[in-house]
Amino acid sequence: MNLLLYGAPGSGKGTQANMLRSHFGIPHIATGDMLRAEIQAGTDLGRQAQPILAAGKYVSDDIMIGIVRHRLGEPDCAPGFIMDGFPRTVPQAEALDGLMTELGKRFDRVIYLQVPVEELLHRLSGRLVCPACQRTYPPVTTACEADGSPLVQREDDKPEAVRPRIEIYLEKTVPVLDHYRGGGLVSEIDGRGTIEDISRQVLAAANVRVVKRQTA
Ligand code: AP5
Ligand code: MG
Repeated sequence: MNLLLYGAPGSGKGTQANMLRSHFGIPHIATGDMLRAEIQAGTDLGRQAQPILAAGKYVSDDIMIGIVRHRLGEPDCAPGFIMDGFPRTVPQAEALDGLMTELGKRFDRVIYLQVPVEELLHRLSGRLVCPACQRTYPPVTTACEADGSPLVQREDDKPEAVRPRIEIYLEKTVPVLDHYRGGGLVSEIDGRGTIEDISRQVLAAANVRVVKRQTA
């Protein structure tokens, strides 16, 4: 099962990807998490990416396509994967089409979590993350449920980076949805409501596709 989670910053992609990873036992490929791991490890890529993420801008298409190409070739992706945060531009979407064809894979479903901008701003300003495993939590939580680490605020959730992130999403990432709409793969889900309620809808969207493929 290959799933693509699509939505604005703060729409709940990471939250739902964690649920899907546990449910289906397939890896969560989150390009933002991968970049933050590079920053934490102090690699050349991390040093290059750090000011870009902090300003809420996008890392170049060439770098991102290279990262995803390498990751999708790893053996744990063979049974399927959950893609989160990529593609974010039309050139990335076109490159991913080519990559999926090369690998003999296709997406079973594109799940679009739709959340209004005011709600995104509210969620991002209160979000806490685990610095060890990158799971995200609403403001009421104090420690990571998975590993007990004290939670922190993400550098790009500071007010000066949140608006630029939404603006670049509207400009560069909204057109990516049209790229997938033509294929009839997109399930639009109203991303407002409890996390559990959204999870039920996300699972229903993912499973509908599986059932259709099995009975076709
Ligand atoms: P990335 O890490 O992908 O960030 P993002 O797309 O901005 O998305 P977020 O992680 O902020 O939000 P989310 O949708 O995962 O929401 P979450 O589940 O945490 O990318 C970061 C940066 O890396 C980019 O800005 C860019 O610089 C760079 N980058 C990454 N990929 C790139 C690419 N392909 N090309 C170029 N650059 C790239 O939820 C948010 C909050 O809401 C949490 O507190 C959560 O608990 C809460 N929440 C979740 N669901 C609900 C609900 N139903 N009700 C109430 N609260 C909820
Ligand atoms: Mg995320």
